Amino acid sequence: MLKPRKPVCEMPEYHSPLCDPVLDLRLDMNESTVGCSPRVLEKLRTLDAKTLALYPSREQGESIVANFLGLNPSEVLLTNGADEAIDLLCRAYLDPEDEIILVTPAFTMYEVFASATGARIVPVAAEEDLAFPTARVVQAVTPRTRIIVITNPNNPTGLAAERTDILKVIESAPNTAVLLDEAYFDFCGKTLLDKLGKLPNLFIVRTFSKAYGLAGLRVGVLAGPEGQLSILRRLCPPFNLNVFALECLREALDDRQFIQDYVKQTIASREWLRSQLESLGLKCWPSETNFLLVQFGPLKKIVLQGMNKHGIALRDRPDCEGCIRISIGTKAEMERLVSTLQGILYQPQVSSAQGRGK
Ligand SMILES: Cc1ncc(COP(=O)(O)O)c(C=O)c1O
Repeated sequence: MLKPRKPVCEMPEYHSPLCDPVLDLRLDMNESTVGCSPRVLEKLRTLDAKTLALYPSREQGESIVANFLGLNPSEVLLTNGADEAIDLLCRAYLDPEDEIILVTPAFTMYEVFASATGARIVPVAAEEDLAFPTARVVQAVTPRTRIIVITNPNNPTGLAAERTDILKVIESAPNTAVLLDEAYFDFCGKTLLDKLGKLPNLFIVRTFSKAYGLAGLRVGVLAGPEGQLSILRRLCPPFNLNVFALECLREALDDRQFIQDYVKQTIASREWLRSQLESLGLKCWPSETNFLLVQFGPLKKIVLQGMNKHGIALRDRPDCEGCIRISIGTKAEMERLVSTLQGILYQPQVSSAQGRGK
């Protein structure tokens, strides 16, 4: 019988949360609910048949992004979403039985791509308050460690690690690739981009899926040392980015005002939501992203189901006990969320179970 490779057969199935059309407010994927810059849409409307007939040139896009990041084009590889950047790193550095260190709870796709190579996942649990466990990550490094993943700020916690802690990890494992995932950089502003090329094992991943509102276009960035990237390019399909994505990059990056306004509004909505949830007695972790991790304890299931009934999708996080991750939308969307939540929490059977009154 025809059989895929053993590590592939042994991978757990990954199911993306369903795009149920009845759910009209999607707060489960950390997407933008506002969408992209109108300049990107305008550009898309100008594309003609000739442009679509030709294979896209990624190199041009790499120059644009490199210039924006203050890097050389040779230090930038554009990928089909940050997901593809993670996959490339796993395929490039992991042999079967090699080790990859993941701080848990973690973004799911690291495990998916690493498992496919046959590598061993070495989970290092976050501290009790979900902070980055610097000392235990350093201790977990062995001669077989080929990749350490640091997500900063982290998904699903929203917490950012200290720069000195990240540097400590990178410097403690010079023969290990450090995948620093800065998918939520735009909401937080903390980066190690200034260290790129100076630390020979540092790779930084970014995405246009969050603050830029372009998750559907699939654009990610892998920045890393020139010598390493020149090898990684051999693994990467030459036409991995489509022409729509490449044609829109300049407009997306040039409209700084759009991103600044969106980030400012998202942070304001996030802090408003946090204060509302805390006043309902719910624990929230301080977030530097476009989402909040919220502790609902035994109410989690009732809340998820109740929200779904009202057309709102939130993300269950079974890896953080009793927690739900909520993506941040506009102030009006957050108001709808809070009033729906109040309706759920103050149902007689729920409030009596929790000793809550109206
Ligand atoms: C930490 C992190 N990295 C990477 C990604 C993947 O981003 P992309 O849409 O660019 O593949 C996500 C998406 O949610 C994420 O949260």
